[in-house]
Amino acid sequence: MSTRRFVLVMLAIIIFALSLVAQDTVSAKLALTPPMGWNSWNKFACNVSEDMIREMADAMVKSGMKDAGYQYVVIDDCWQVTRDENGNIVADPQRFPSGIKALADYVHSLGLKFGIYSDAGSKTCAGRPGGLGHEYQDAVQYAAWGVDYLKYDWCNTTTQDAKASYANIRAALDAAGRPIVLSICEWGKAQPWLWGKEVGGNLWRTTGDIQDRWAGKKEWKPGDCCSYGVVDIIDAEADLYSYAGPGHWNDPDMLEVGNGGMTDVEYRSHFSLWAILAAPLIAGNDLRSMRPEIRHILTNKEVIAINQDPLGMQGRACPKAATVKCGRSNSRTGVARWSFSTAARPHRTWLSLGERSDIRIT
Ligand code: GLA
Repeated sequence: MSTRRFVLVMLAIIIFALSLVAQDTVSAKLALTPPMGWNSWNKFACNVSEDMIREMADAMVKSGMKDAGYQYVVIDDCWQVTRDENGNIVADPQRFPSGIKALADYVHSLGLKFGIYSDAGSKTCAGRPGGLGHEYQDAVQYAAWGVDYLKYDWCNTTTQDAKASYANIRAALDAAGRPIVLSICEWGKAQPWLWGKEVGGNLWRTTGDIQDRWAGKKEWKPGDCCSYGVVDIIDAEADLYSYAGPGHWNDPDMLEVGNGGMTDVEYRSHFSLWAILAAPLIAGNDLRSMRPEIRHILTNKEVIAINQDPLGMQGRACPKAATVKCGRSNSRTGVARWSFSTAARPHRTWLSLGERSDIRIT
């Protein structure tokens, strides 16, 4: 090989290696505090359209939510209807006549970020085309549309390995060259807190779906477990605090604040507990028509500051008597406490530990 060719080959290798390092760094720098945004599923399920998503993005700005830190506007299931003859995913032409790129551009024009949903299996949970076998093709499409956040579900995955499936979509997103937050929605079945960070997931669901109620676990249908109330979800999160940290979060599911099934006191508790848990704060209500009390809960800057503490430590449950010891166990200052009892459980205090000792909620 001539010297000139040798130098060119070496240069190519160095550029390739640098690009890998750069991509790795880009992924690792996403979601350094829990992601904040809005998602269509909890309120609208399959009733999604570009008009509604635009209005929700507008409302996120007008309501003060953007100023309070909310960023991502995420369309959940049912935006997609089929694949074309080349395997490209196709958005519902009736509900999204301007196309997903135009919608993402609009969301970006408001200074917000845009998110979308797919599934690791052959079909989504609502039976729309899933990502299986199209991971790299879809990732290139998402990057071209300007997607900033991908929620990736786990329906219709039959014998797939969860860790390998999520590693595959992360690799596809990275290869597409756009920094995209990866939200692993595997419902905790394969304990994603053990491997989610390693495969480049930025958040992972820890349980089945939240429902708009304070307490109670209910089967969807006999033998098909379950949807969960707030209390049941936080009980499931109680022992997972060591897995959360900047860039990788336990996800106790999206917020139900304002959807009508709980009292305002319960919604305030739901929001405060999610803040203490360093949980992603993804609102799920109709932002266009929320009551002032609901807006106040969702935009409470002190509570949000607890959630967005740069230390990224998930709060933990302490028996009442041990609260002080619990708070001092790593010599950090406890900055938020939230106590409640249920008939079934002893009185416990949820405590967060943070860097911001100037902020306290009790
Ligand atoms: C699953 C997820 C939900 C939602 C629906 C959409 O149930 O856990 O959050 O995305 O699918 O079909």
